[in-house]
Amino acid sequence: MANLLITGGAGFIGSHLIYRLVKNYPQDHIYNLDALTYAGNPENLQAVEDAANYTFIKGDITDFAFLEQLFARYHFDGVIHLAAESHVDRSIANPMAFILTNVVGTVNLLNAAKNAWQGNYAGKRFYHVSTDEVYGSLGAEGYFTEETAYDPRSPYSASKASSDHFVRAWQHTYGLPVVISNCSNNYGPYQFPEKLLPLIINNIKEGKPLPVYGDGTNVRDWLWVEDHVAAIDLIYHQGTIGETYNIGGNNEWSNIDLVRTLCDVMDQLLDQPTGTSQGLITFVKDRPGHDQRYAIDATKLKDALGWEPLVGVPEGLRLTAQWYLANPEWLSRITSGAYREYYQQQYQDESL
Ligand code: NAD
Ligand code: TYD
Repeated sequence: MANLLITGGAGFIGSHLIYRLVKNYPQDHIYNLDALTYAGNPENLQAVEDAANYTFIKGDITDFAFLEQLFARYHFDGVIHLAAESHVDRSIANPMAFILTNVVGTVNLLNAAKNAWQGNYAGKRFYHVSTDEVYGSLGAEGYFTEETAYDPRSPYSASKASSDHFVRAWQHTYGLPVVISNCSNNYGPYQFPEKLLPLIINNIKEGKPLPVYGDGTNVRDWLWVEDHVAAIDLIYHQGTIGETYNIGGNNEWSNIDLVRTLCDVMDQLLDQPTGTSQGLITFVKDRPGHDQRYAIDATKLKDALGWEPLVGVPEGLRLTAQWYLANPEWLSRITSGAYREYYQQQYQDESL
């Protein structure tokens, strides 16, 4: 029996992870701490809301006094930390929010765990979920490995690189048992429609232009979200303390090829002539400092723990598009902002 704290569990990846852990570990208690920013949506978690081994706690990781009380009350054995500001374009517009949550919030959590565990680290673990964007940008060749030097280039990636450094510093200085993973671009159900794929799906549904930044040649490695949370589960339970693991989908696509493929999938699902959606593609002004290419070498994780991605892009795009088309209410509540009223009525800040 373990008490496990997940931060950011109402977000995209976090909600998939919560489902998996609540279902697969009935003997453990899963606590989901989430501030419910614009990116957090408790609707994502309706299916586990009433599970006996699940508790939702509304609260902010930038509030250290609150975190100390939380650790004192619930005696967490482990932390899987996902709460973050996660969208690069927002980080360009408002970097300070990223520094507060991603850097200060992470240090608050490290300190709260250190103070609560007081050097009794048997059975304890602090897992930081991070990004491949900390490694910077690749040219046409090569892959990020766990040995690649950090070279973050956007406010988002700089904040995640900084938080990774703090996580490692808490191990070297205080002995905190930490593990880190750095993953590539996730996609799948429940992703907020500011990110590329759900944005394109939503705009196709609404007949709006499909904005492709620059010339569309930037390359990303796409990771099916269920494959990612399977890796997190494995690393949390079986990974070696102090190690870093890269997680990738082995699925490199240029943005323009990916968007065109998604357009064709949507035309099929919407029963409209092939080419209809591609006609909406519009090249727009590039993102400032847009990283050219990310690509992950996930050999270490395969060799150490036997993990490999199971779902590739053509299939994953179809599954994603089908989910968004089957859940129009979810999508329209997000795009209209109505989901915020829904949860503000239901959830109060936790008072301890
Ligand atoms: P998301 O934006 O969908 O969700 C983030 C969640 O964190 C939201 O529920 C939000 O309410 C919560 N949150 C934000 N600030 C908070 C605060 N101050 N206190 C408590 N909760 C707060 O993000 P995601 O895409 O699910 O990403 C999860 C993690 O994975 C992040 O750490 C991100 O950096 C990392 N990651 C994501 C991707 C990706 O492709 N989505 C890739 C690599 C790494
Ligand atoms: P995004 O989903 O924002 O992830 P990240 O920037 O973390 O990789 O974007 C994925 C890629 O798609 C990235 O190269 C930027 C590009 N992009 C567009 O071309 N148009 C868009 O409207 C968005 C949101 C992203």
